Amino acid sequence: MSEISFRPLTPITGAEVEGVDLTVDPQPAVVAALREALLRYKVLVFRDQPMNDAQQVALTNAFGGATAAHPIVNGLRDAPAVLRTALSEDRPKLAEAEGLGHPLKGTAPRRLRTEWHIDSTFVANPTAITILRGVEIPPTGGDTLFANLEALYTGLSPSLRGYLDTLQAIHSRHNASPEPRFDGKPAGPFVALHPLVSVHPETGVRSLYVSSVFLQAIRGLKPRESTALLDFLLDELAGRDEIHARVRWEQDTLVMWDNRSVAHAGPVDGLLFKDERIVHRTTVVGEPPCGPNGFVSRALMGGPFEALA
Ligand SMILES: [Fe+2]
Repeated sequence: MSEISFRPLTPITGAEVEGVDLTVDPQPAVVAALREALLRYKVLVFRDQPMNDAQQVALTNAFGGATAAHPIVNGLRDAPAVLRTALSEDRPKLAEAEGLGHPLKGTAPRRLRTEWHIDSTFVANPTAITILRGVEIPPTGGDTLFANLEALYTGLSPSLRGYLDTLQAIHSRHNASPEPRFDGKPAGPFVALHPLVSVHPETGVRSLYVSSVFLQAIRGLKPRESTALLDFLLDELAGRDEIHARVRWEQDTLVMWDNRSVAHAGPVDGLLFKDERIVHRTTVVGEPPCGPNGFVSRALMGGPFEALA
């Protein structure tokens, strides 16, 4: 086994990994080393990893069970674990989100950004790890941003942290007319209740478990209280530059992140360039998050997001 080395992207978040070939079946020792690195760096960036969908799924299975591509959106016909995202298809949605008519503008006028999220928090057991592969990458633009949710939490005052530790939040997603799923399962609606602060199942470190996209409200607060507190927390998420890392994609770049301890946003500049950008995503099945007071996430609507058989 060649020597694996890690070049940190920032002091606290992300690392470029050298000395690993993910296109061959990863050895258990390599997987163990990368799992440990993922807990430390939270985002791992691998360059020059040309692979097909089957290889990406095999890699995903080596880190736990690969889920279906998405709880709502179908994967590829011949690779149901793979979610293909093409910027050319998503640009109309980005343009709409920029416009004044977007419904989020009415409820969250003061927030800095609306794209930050943790993958699939609308289910009770969001994915543990996300793996994203650059299939067609533009010469510039389309970077992905990451935010360290542990640092987001520790940057708050002890008294506010103590209060947040006791709270839960409602996360949901409902697509009005989703395509029927290949696996025949209901495509939503999904509603889940999560602790606002989650305890990492492997390290015990606390994260502020917030998402601009799926998190609707804090349970037990009046609507104005919930909106004001979320506006503050989401501005901290988006505005604290020192907790962010930015990944620049290249063809055959593969990025793996710990979906339990980072949020991400991207591409943030999709309307500023015209080129295509295609990425293929796979995800490792996760456990329901647990809060500092022992509260375990549960579904209010919709089933769990399970590993493919
Ligand atoms: Fe995502």
